[in-house]
Amino acid sequence: MKVAVFSAQRYDRFFLDEANRLRAAQGFELDYQEAALSAQTVALARGCDAVCVFVNDRLDAPVLEALAGAGVRAVLLRCAGFNNVDVAAAARLGLFVARVPAYSPEAVAEHAIALIMTLNRHTHRAYNRVREGNFALDGLLGMTLHGKSVGLIGTGKIGLATARILKGIGCRLLGADPFPSEEFKTLGDYVGLDELLARADIVSLHCPLTEDTRHMIDARALAAMKSGAMLVNTSRGALVDTQAVIAALKSRHLGSLAIDVYEQESSLFFRDRSDDIIDDDVFQRLMTFPNVLVTGHQGFFTAEALREIAAVTLDNLDAFATGRPCENILPPTR
Ligand code: NAI
Repeated sequence: MKVAVFSAQRYDRFFLDEANRLRAAQGFELDYQEAALSAQTVALARGCDAVCVFVNDRLDAPVLEALAGAGVRAVLLRCAGFNNVDVAAAARLGLFVARVPAYSPEAVAEHAIALIMTLNRHTHRAYNRVREGNFALDGLLGMTLHGKSVGLIGTGKIGLATARILKGIGCRLLGADPFPSEEFKTLGDYVGLDELLARADIVSLHCPLTEDTRHMIDARALAAMKSGAMLVNTSRGALVDTQAVIAALKSRHLGSLAIDVYEQESSLFFRDRSDDIIDDDVFQRLMTFPNVLVTGHQGFFTAEALREIAAVTLDNLDAFATGRPCENILPPTR
């Protein structure tokens, strides 16, 4: 069985090859492509039985139709989110689509905490200052997190993992989720979204991107937030209206922003653009604020998580190849 692996980075090859070797006799033929999957690159999948894709590969109806036309029968997502897949079109075309629903929720949760800690105590600025012999503390003032209220929008696997760590720090936890979890109730309180926004010193997003959640943090939601609060997004960029966030930062209402994901990240993230002129003016405006911290979608990026992603991805393909039931097929069942 031949698989075109799109958006393949060096680390994807390493962990997929390792997982494939562990399969011994039932290994697959992995054809690595650096390019992201799109209408322009879909031809690279010709002759393959399956494609393996990541968060910024495009799987809209025209791309899925082209894949099916080229003989591809399976789509393997090496991620949890599937907002980039037209699931209805895939079902209509009879494509097998499977994802990796949970590789390491703790990896993403720990990154969300790293962002909160860094932005709050300015360790990224302190690092540079100290290396230049500047030991002044001015501008590095933070708040004690113990006793602060953190609002988690989405209390699924990652939201819960984040809640457990924050509980250890001594934060008060507020949650908003249409499907409440019993475990979260032992850590904090569920409240309505408006109450969460009004009470939280830090708001952290952990819900999926859907048509209902797109731009859930818009000008209205930002205005409802406590003045000076921190907004953290490690989920999906389009949960946040970036223009509205810039306006809230400019008005000084939003205290600070930490993001691992960005609405238009597909043209920027996962590659070295340091020699290029970046023509995304919205992103560049964000980078001018001293109280904004951006990482390039690295929440998932631990060795444990990549090993798990590779193993589950190939196991999903094995289920497709052998016709055995697969619990990771889309759409998911709760
Ligand atoms: P999950 O499915 O376990 O939890 C998502 C939770 O969000 C569910 O409990 C769901 O009921 C809730 N939810 C849905 N709509 C909501 C709404 N309107 N308001 C509040 N809550 C809502 O998913 P998991 O594993 O916790 O992942 C969450 C998201 O994290 C993924 O959808 C993905 O976009 C993102 N992610 C980011 C990564 C990174 O590297 N930065 C890596 C992996 C996932």
